Amino acid sequence: MDRSMARLEGKVALISGAASGMGAGSSRAMIAEGAKVVLGDVADEAGQQLAAELGHAAMFVHLDVTCAADWGNAVQAAISRFGKLNVLVNNAGIVNGGLLGIASEADWTRILAVNLTGPFLGISATIDELKRSAPSSIINISSIAGLQGMAGLHGYTASKFGLRGLTKSAALELARTGVRVNSVHPGGIRTAMTSAFPESAATAPMGRWGQVAEIVGVVVHLASDESAFTTGAEYSVDGGEAAGALHALGEHLN
Ligand SMILES: NC(=O)c1ccc[n+]([C@@H]2O[C@H](COP(=O)([O-])OP(=O)(O)OC[C@H]3O[C@@H](n4cnc5c(N)ncnc54)[C@H](O)[C@@H]3O)[C@@H](O)[C@H]2O)c1
Repeated sequence: MDRSMARLEGKVALISGAASGMGAGSSRAMIAEGAKVVLGDVADEAGQQLAAELGHAAMFVHLDVTCAADWGNAVQAAISRFGKLNVLVNNAGIVNGGLLGIASEADWTRILAVNLTGPFLGISATIDELKRSAPSSIINISSIAGLQGMAGLHGYTASKFGLRGLTKSAALELARTGVRVNSVHPGGIRTAMTSAFPESAATAPMGRWGQVAEIVGVVVHLASDESAFTTGAEYSVDGGEAAGALHALGEHLN
């Protein structure tokens, strides 16, 4: 590509959960747009393979998002290898669930640790460097489950609503520092997380599952200075699912 047109030239990103799914897709897309990317994940083998495939603009670090020391190492790795850090994508996430009365406290504690405490630790570990290397962008991958309830997914929805709230408060606190903070709310996207569900289980008004490529365009936009006046915003990428109920009640009025 014509490097003068690259949208992320000069950006150095740290992406959690980068070994698969949307994290891997975001890593590829950001490097294609001129960024350097530190891929963090607990899946060491897959992460190392992807980094090797992506070449000199990528490096892999072992990162368990629930571990503050791992975050510290990841930031140090970004500085040593690429000299700065100005994009953080809090993408790592897990799903678990169960109906009330069956869902366990262990599952609840675990999902909040990964999906909500993880991003808090990530922001805390990177904030000094993000300010120093501003303009910077923090992108929190929430979910439509951060915009509306989902029966049987209590811990997941609580964690994703929490991440949306963390996004707003961080955006306000950092608004004058050159660090923007926004959340992305995917609907059902085809990744390992949703592989157990059949095509017919798609719940989006568009009538299909989303693809990873349909999320990463928004992530690249939010990482780039194209979105310089956008902070504290929430981006639904969900085939219309968060827009409301898909029941044509109006037809009964005719
Ligand atoms: N797939 C969907 O339909 C969907 C919808 C809405 C939101 N999301 C969110 O998107 C994000 C990415 O999910 P995905 O669909 O690409 O799933 P995925 O399972 O393909 O990828 C998740 C990645 O996170 C990593 N991970 C898990 N626990 C970790 C930890 N403690 N520390 C570091 N990495 C860890 C996994 O190893 C994996 O590589 C998640 O936050 C998820 O909740 C997914």
